[in-house]
Amino acid sequence: MALLRRRLKLVVTVTMVNLFIFIIISRHSSQDKNEHQKVNIPSKPFWTKLAPSSAYWNRQQQFLDLQNNPVLFANYSNVELPDWLNDTSLTSDPCKPNFKVTTRVKDYNSLPDRFKDFLLYMQCRSYPITVDQPNICRESPFLLLAVKSLAPHFDRRQAIRQSWGRAGFIANRTVVTIFLLGNATAGDHHPDLSGMLQYESIRHKDIIQWDYRDSFFNLTVKEVLFLEWIQARCSGARFIFKGDDDVFVNTYRILDFLKGLSEPKARDLFVGDVITNAGPHRDKKVKYFIPESMYVGTYPPYAGGGGYLYSGDIAARLHNVSQHVALYPIDDVYTGMCLRKLGLAPEKHKGFRTFNIEEKYRSNPCAYKSLMLVHPRTPQEMIQIWAWLSSPDLNCQ
Ligand SMILES: *[C@@H]1O[C@H](CO)[C@@H](O)[C@H](O)[C@H]1NC(C)=O
Ligand SMILES: *[C@@H]1O[C@H](CO)[C@@H](O)[C@H](O)[C@H]1NC(C)=O
Ligand SMILES: *[C@@H]1O[C@H](CO)[C@@H](O)[C@H](O)[C@H]1NC(C)=O
Ligand SMILES: *[C@@H]1O[C@H](CO)[C@@H](O)[C@H](O)[C@H]1NC(C)=O
Ligand SMILES: *[C@@H]1O[C@H](CO)[C@@H](O)[C@H](O)[C@H]1NC(C)=O
Ligand SMILES: *[C@@H]1O[C@H](CO)[C@@H](O)[C@H](O)[C@H]1NC(C)=O
Repeated sequence: MALLRRRLKLVVTVTMVNLFIFIIISRHSSQDKNEHQKVNIPSKPFWTKLAPSSAYWNRQQQFLDLQNNPVLFANYSNVELPDWLNDTSLTSDPCKPNFKVTTRVKDYNSLPDRFKDFLLYMQCRSYPITVDQPNICRESPFLLLAVKSLAPHFDRRQAIRQSWGRAGFIANRTVVTIFLLGNATAGDHHPDLSGMLQYESIRHKDIIQWDYRDSFFNLTVKEVLFLEWIQARCSGARFIFKGDDDVFVNTYRILDFLKGLSEPKARDLFVGDVITNAGPHRDKKVKYFIPESMYVGTYPPYAGGGGYLYSGDIAARLHNVSQHVALYPIDDVYTGMCLRKLGLAPEKHKGFRTFNIEEKYRSNPCAYKSLMLVHPRTPQEMIQIWAWLSSPDLNCQ
């Protein structure tokens, strides 16, 4: 008897559920049918008119947004551009110094020189390439290692070549290593190293150099030029690592990690040491200081510039979207801004240690086995750690 009742209960429940699903589906399909009859067109724009931001970068971005989103432009088309936006519009040659900034940025005259230099050339994104390796990706690499370096850092580059940047076949995957350089200019009191650099470039065929002043605030220029370069010379690269020349990269671990990714995961890959909920430093003494006249707001999540790893697919998307994001003086924040515009966020991975590992583990070979990046490391340390990791005797539990 109890069994029968339980069965009856089950039958009733199943019927109810079916009925419920039927109702939902039929309501849904009747909505579909009515869809073309009932289109609600808002009678007036549902966005507010743009008000000028108090900060120069933000205003530049508002201008770019307006230019690249015709729908926002709709209401400005039959009117003149509002004056404040017209102010920000580009000069005919974006690579000529834009002296308008001297009056458009409230406290321009009291800013440190690096800001003045940045602001004057903020519109310029293209500089001539003076050393190129047009055929370096003739065979599309599985992994492209791109290292931001400075002309005088010969020893760091050589250590990378002899350790984690060893090009060729590592673990049965093609790895190509390149070094990204600007100009170490006489204006910054650099000695003339052009002869040595030329020798290095002929000898190793892994130097890419553009003719612009290689300074901290121009690292974003390096980023934009590199994104351009990838599309021109290495668009077949499956994955790209971009980082500094004072980091140790465990290429073995990175290749291992990449091989294990699923296809969709691999396509949208962007991992590193991600910083969230950060904003500009307002303390003038900090290297990363940004004045309020330049930027207001918080930063999007971004991966620390010491090194991050992403897919070739993302590189193509970043290249496109970067043209719609105003240059920002801090390169890793800039890349975060581009990702945000793509609707993506970088993913944090514990293997990226841009703030180093605990001191007591630093000379323990096994500490590096599962890591992907450690910062900072000297050239000698790079060679030492690489020797540990490459040794067949390394036995870690
Ligand atoms: C947008 O432009 C139309 C046509 O010129 C005008 O009627 C409308 O009031 C404008 N809307 C706003 C919010 O300015
Ligand atoms: C910007 O302003 C100048 C004069 O101030 C005017 O000649 C020009 O047409 C304006 N440009 C746009 C796009 O409104
Ligand atoms: C090396 O890679 C190729 C293709 O990528 C594959 O066919 C081959 O089996 C791999 N060899 C080893 C030893 O893993
Ligand atoms: C870069 O270096 C080259 C050769 O040393 C020099 O001719 C050129 O003027 C430099 N460019 C800049 C922007 O300083
Ligand atoms: C960036 O490079 C350009 C071209 O060499 C130079 O004119 C400008 O001053 C540099 N900007 C900074 C912030 O160093
Ligand atoms: C980049 O933009 C070009 C030109 O608009 C377009 O053809 C291409 O599909 C875009 N690529 C990506 C990856 O979005």
